[in-house]
Amino acid sequence: MAGNYDRAGEVKAFDQMKIGVKGLVDAGITKVPRIFHHQDVAVTNPKPSSTLEIPTIDVGGGVFESTVTRKSVIAKVRAAVEKFGFFQVINHGIPLEVMESMKDGIRGFHEQDSEVKKTFYSRDITKKVKYNTNFDLYSSQAANWRDTLTMVMAPDVPQAGDLPVICREIMLEYSKRMMKLGELIFELLSEALGLKPNHLKELNCAKSLSLLSHYYPPCPEPDRTFGISSHTDISFITILLQDHIGGLQVLHDGYWIDVPPNPEALIVNLGDLLQLITNDKFVSVEHRVLANRGEEPRISSASFFMHTIPNEQVYGPMKELLSKQNPPKYRNTTTTEMARHYLARGLDGTSPLLHFRI
Ligand code: OGA
Ligand code: NI
Repeated sequence: MAGNYDRAGEVKAFDQMKIGVKGLVDAGITKVPRIFHHQDVAVTNPKPSSTLEIPTIDVGGGVFESTVTRKSVIAKVRAAVEKFGFFQVINHGIPLEVMESMKDGIRGFHEQDSEVKKTFYSRDITKKVKYNTNFDLYSSQAANWRDTLTMVMAPDVPQAGDLPVICREIMLEYSKRMMKLGELIFELLSEALGLKPNHLKELNCAKSLSLLSHYYPPCPEPDRTFGISSHTDISFITILLQDHIGGLQVLHDGYWIDVPPNPEALIVNLGDLLQLITNDKFVSVEHRVLANRGEEPRISSASFFMHTIPNEQVYGPMKELLSKQNPPKYRNTTTTEMARHYLARGLDGTSPLLHFRI
């Protein structure tokens, strides 16, 4: 809530320091500044629920080799996305050491000398490598307790020299593996829609990868703010790596379901672009991260499969899924138009897809 103060001025002052939330914590603040105050944190409505778990799906080698296994995996994916919009994958082919090094690399970036970090600080949405805090700092009602390093890793692989020295090798390695896993997930999703395995790949859904490497510093007043407030992702899908700290929750049937850390698993969630092209057959799901109560930072990496901005490819509901009974619910749009809309409104808890509904 804006409240009765010069919010815009305080936001700008914070942004201009280029130190992120981590810089505030390092400076020894003991209270959460009011630009981060959310109205609805303490109100636990929807209620937390510990009885439900998001599905875990084994996508091990058999998926490629045996039709029987592949069919059963596709059935599980379909059930998971229709029920939750979220699932975890295990035996996904990414070695544990790579996932651990990725978390170390992210931590290394955010914990290095702030003068080095500042050289990457930017809010230019066309910039391929940038660090900032709260992509929607100027448009949201309240800021979140999180800093992010964002890198476009595909289709054009960045020059090593353009990436931060401290994490460039692992970012390149991790992204290469993400692209491969992304292909598999889009094949499974295509088949779960009753389409041929390459369908979504041929629409270029698996082609572009933006890697968001988040750092959630410990928060002195975690009941005042969020790590990331409730939102859906703009992507086709997002593949998420989270560390051991916890705090990620998914909204299901009016309840916030915890997604407890599992060091071997990666989380897959469906984004708004997939909801739009599947004409609501698959839906993107609201999720959030609570502000970090612990002593240690929380680290996560979100692999957003979506086009780099600017991109003019037009997307609308796929004609294969439409019929007289199921007419298109969305107008055609581009990732660029969607991204601009998201940025202009900020994460405000309502579905940004409404803007594109017919
Ligand atoms: C996101 C997101 C969750 C996390 O980047 O959109 O929801 O655990 N991240 O960092
Ligand atoms: Ni998200």
